[in-house]
Amino acid sequence: LDNGLARTPPMGWLSWERFRCRTDCKMYPNSCINEKLYMDMADRLSEDGYLRAGYKYVNIDDCWATLQRDPKTLRLVPDPVRFPSGLKKLADYVHSKGLKLGIYGDMGTKTCGGYPGSKFTMELDAQTFAEWGIDSFKMDGCYSTTKDFSVAYPIMEFFLNKTGRPILFSCSWPAYMQSSDPDYKLIAKHCNIWRNYNDITDSWDSVKTIIKYYGDDKYNFSAVAGPGNFNDPDMIIVGNTGLSYQQWQVQMAMWAMMAAPLFLSEDLRTITPEARTLIQNPGVIAINQDRLGIMGKRVWQSGNIEAWIRPVTPVGSYAVAVLNLNDGGAQSGFNMTLVTLGVKGQDAYNLSEVFSGKALGKYTVSTNFPIFIDTNSVLLLKYTKLDRILKW
Ligand code: GLA
Repeated sequence: LDNGLARTPPMGWLSWERFRCRTDCKMYPNSCINEKLYMDMADRLSEDGYLRAGYKYVNIDDCWATLQRDPKTLRLVPDPVRFPSGLKKLADYVHSKGLKLGIYGDMGTKTCGGYPGSKFTMELDAQTFAEWGIDSFKMDGCYSTTKDFSVAYPIMEFFLNKTGRPILFSCSWPAYMQSSDPDYKLIAKHCNIWRNYNDITDSWDSVKTIIKYYGDDKYNFSAVAGPGNFNDPDMIIVGNTGLSYQQWQVQMAMWAMMAAPLFLSEDLRTITPEARTLIQNPGVIAINQDRLGIMGKRVWQSGNIEAWIRPVTPVGSYAVAVLNLNDGGAQSGFNMTLVTLGVKGQDAYNLSEVFSGKALGKYTVSTNFPIFIDTNSVLLLKYTKLDRILKW
């Protein structure tokens, strides 16, 4: 969507994976969906280095509203017990920290959690969000039929645009059409980001299936990624309990390769320094945020070892991820060259390991790079093109 937003994949925080639809604040005062949760996360984003690293959206997900619209105005209403200050005030608070506020809704009659949908009130809802100062809208596709999508999503985009307020538009459109060839060109025209696939959960299986879906690239959705439009493989779960440290690295590396939105869904109040440092790794973020916005592709596979490549700046350079998805077994060792990954030519490159930033020397497309990767781990490399051809 060419609305000036998401020129690189958006970064921020999103409540769903970690906090779900917990509405009982008496029982769970520190982890229910209420204004305090989003204010706490805004504090952490701005004070603990995340904002400086690029994470700026605080995104509300489902279960923020009352079960009925206001009977007179028909407007959506934030739950008065859990959001006593109202969403305008929450947006002001978030903005005062230099952050942006996102919200969630649905194009059908109800949200996936059963709260009011926007089917008959798209213009009113867009206006309401703009008046509150909302900066991003995730529109889900529950309680609807996929036949309506190609009309309803563009209509909402039209009304968001009409408010005059820049509002990033996140669509769940193709996620509901995994077996029916979604029109990705149309989706990219009307949405800034879109969920292609199932919800992430805090498990290695979930992360692996997502990586496979994006590697398979059914319907060639990688082709429509670019500044303003990005495929969204769902939230970052680094810092939660389902993955090992190496598996966290896999998620960060692959979301960078995929030019994916980085929406953290963990409790930033209690996250370990180790997870925080990983989430803020400048080398990984630089790949994710590369201004060319080209989505990486899986280009090589052998058993459960696979390699992905993504063109990045300076033009002619590449990020490469080699994954060992074996469950158990020994380290895998083999030689790799850029030629194996489909790169031709006479260029020379400075090779570096991305997580550590460690320089590994000068390489051409055919220089062997000996690789050793542990199971359930990734090696993330950057081949930075040198100005002059390397003379041996
Ligand atoms: C769907 C979406 C999730 C989340 C829930 C909320 O499952 O895919 O990301 O928004 O709805 O109910």
